[in-house]
Amino acid sequence: MTDHTPETGGSHQPLSDAAAAYPELDSVLSSLGAFYLYRRTAHNNLTHRRRLQFHALPLSQQSVLSAPPINYPEILSRLDDAIEHNAEISEAIFRHSIEAFGIDPEILKGKEWLNLVTADDLDKVRSTIKQFYRDWSAEGAKEREACNAPVTKELEERFGALSAEDKAKISVLVPGAGLGRLAYDIAVAGYSSQGNENSFHQLMASNYILNCTSSAKQHTLYPFASSFSNHRSRDNHLRGFAIPDVHPASGLSVAAEENRFSMAAGDFVAAYNNPEAAGQFDVVSTVFFIDTAVNIFSYLETIWNTLVDGGIWINCGPLLWHWENREADLKLASEEAQGLELTVDEVLEVAKAVGFRIEKRERGGKAEYIGSGNDSMLSWIYESEFWVAVKIPKEKK
Ligand SMILES: C[S@@+](CC[C@H](N)C(=O)[O-])C[C@H]1O[C@@H](n2cnc3c(N)ncnc32)[C@H](O)[C@@H]1O
Repeated sequence: MTDHTPETGGSHQPLSDAAAAYPELDSVLSSLGAFYLYRRTAHNNLTHRRRLQFHALPLSQQSVLSAPPINYPEILSRLDDAIEHNAEISEAIFRHSIEAFGIDPEILKGKEWLNLVTADDLDKVRSTIKQFYRDWSAEGAKEREACNAPVTKELEERFGALSAEDKAKISVLVPGAGLGRLAYDIAVAGYSSQGNENSFHQLMASNYILNCTSSAKQHTLYPFASSFSNHRSRDNHLRGFAIPDVHPASGLSVAAEENRFSMAAGDFVAAYNNPEAAGQFDVVSTVFFIDTAVNIFSYLETIWNTLVDGGIWINCGPLLWHWENREADLKLASEEAQGLELTVDEVLEVAKAVGFRIEKRERGGKAEYIGSGNDSMLSWIYESEFWVAVKIPKEKK
């Protein structure tokens, strides 16, 4: 994505003004189309294909699988129901994105625009749907406690004693905001908060959950439905979770009135490493984000640029370098594709060279990233690193 960060003016109605200006209409449409196609592709890939396989089995095998306690045909019906629930969310995102992203409904009348949807888009919609579990279910609180809570605790330690009026003046940027929960929690805690995100799939889904849901627990989400592997029990595979755990629009009502919450679309570096964005934020908090950098220098220079002098950068997350071994996907000029995957020690040395003083470094919490349920045979635990760094003004660098 190029720089098209809309100025959302503190309202929590992201994107509506800016949408018409999108130069990347094809990307918007391919993301939108993937939400539209979720129902069809999920039924096709998950249940339809397995029904055919089931009926192709010898009758003796079919009868074992059909009998209790397995009841395989019944499992596929339960899975169809789970897909219907996920599709309800996916199609609500589709409907609400049309206006929010300024898409001319005329374009959507034919079917040609759906040809833009790629397998990658469909995959991103599946993972975006799963991400609601991490950000917006009560059960996802365990993951949020390990990654977001250290950030909000640090903010409270530093600024918690301020009056409500002074707290509201503390501006916090959350790059790679995903579905917006950390940016939301920061605004609800009384600060000014801006989430930044460059994925249309994420932006469409966060717009829906933040602005368009009508109550807590409005939807039931089946985050693990799309994978059959590593479940000890079918209940683990087909467990439903109520989302959102809180009603975002109610939680944000005060912040919205005070223009203290916004989501900004666009690439982090393009949007914030320029003179207009210099010194705009008191705090930048990166959670599971810095390892998405192609070149870590540009992310750290951008954080430095957008902080006020003495401003703080709070980081929590692992270093799962996103672009490692994916040079072919970068589609960037070769000199830009020089991502060197550093260790934490090395990242912190780069941070010092860029102009930060490291004030605190600790082991963060251990947590999964969208786990796959309590009764799963696979868990991938991240041991995050947590640090706080202070921007040293140039003359003192
Ligand atoms: C691993 S996810 C973490 C999301 C969220 N912070 C969390 O902890 O759940 C990284 C996020 O950064 C976003 N992202 C990646 N590169 C970005 C960039 N250059 N500018 C803005 N966002 C970016 C991705 O779309 C994704 O939502």
